Amino acid sequence: MITIALPKGRVAEKTLELFQKIFKQNFVLEDRKLILESSGFKFLLVRSQDVPTYVYYQAADIGVVGLDVLEESELDLVRLLDLQIGKCKVVVGSAVGKNIDYRKSRIKIATKMPNITTKYFSKKAIPVDVIKLYGSIELAPLVELSDGIVDIVETGSTMKQNNLKVDEVIMESSVYLIANKNSFYSKKEIILSLQEQLRSFIG
Ligand code: PRP
Repeated sequence: MITIALPKGRVAEKTLELFQKIFKQNFVLEDRKLILESSGFKFLLVRSQDVPTYVYYQAADIGVVGLDVLEESELDLVRLLDLQIGKCKVVVGSAVGKNIDYRKSRIKIATKMPNITTKYFSKKAIPVDVIKLYGSIELAPLVELSDGIVDIVETGSTMKQNNLKVDEVIMESSVYLIANKNSFYSKKEIILSLQEQLRSFIG
């Protein structure tokens, strides 16, 4: 039995579709059920930000999660494969016509990714007050809660709609298959074989 943490929503559905194709089995989620057990697999449905936690503490052997979420978690996990879905970028953004004023003694950045933000600006030796938000990040510079934001851009339409622009790209992200080190060693064969099968399906 191998336990797999999946982020609820579109990525879980896409991942289950991949498993269906590979194993020629139906992996169908029942409404509101958080565990799906079938043919040697146990899928756990969790919040995307919680996937690294479930895997790190070995409640799951492996997981599927965006590189952005993995970086933000700062947990030491094995990256097995880029599944080439959920592509997006983590960017620094600010209001059109109002650049972030880096001459200020400290700048304010709103984000739901405080660790990535702190690391990025400290590497550049720019003093930053990180303002942690849980969503609708694009609002912050519009009402002067912050000078800029660090957020995810997928299609770019949220930033465009809100008259914001991308100033810098911090990282490119896509969804990865990850494992904790213990499971990776104790279940190496099954994990490596799964990795190979997934790899051949995503081409
Ligand atoms: C994410 C992100 C942006 C938006 C970007 O938010 O924080 O707001 O998606 O997508 P786009 O470039 O395609 O417009 P999410 O939908 O996860 O909602 P949240 O702000 O509540 O976290």
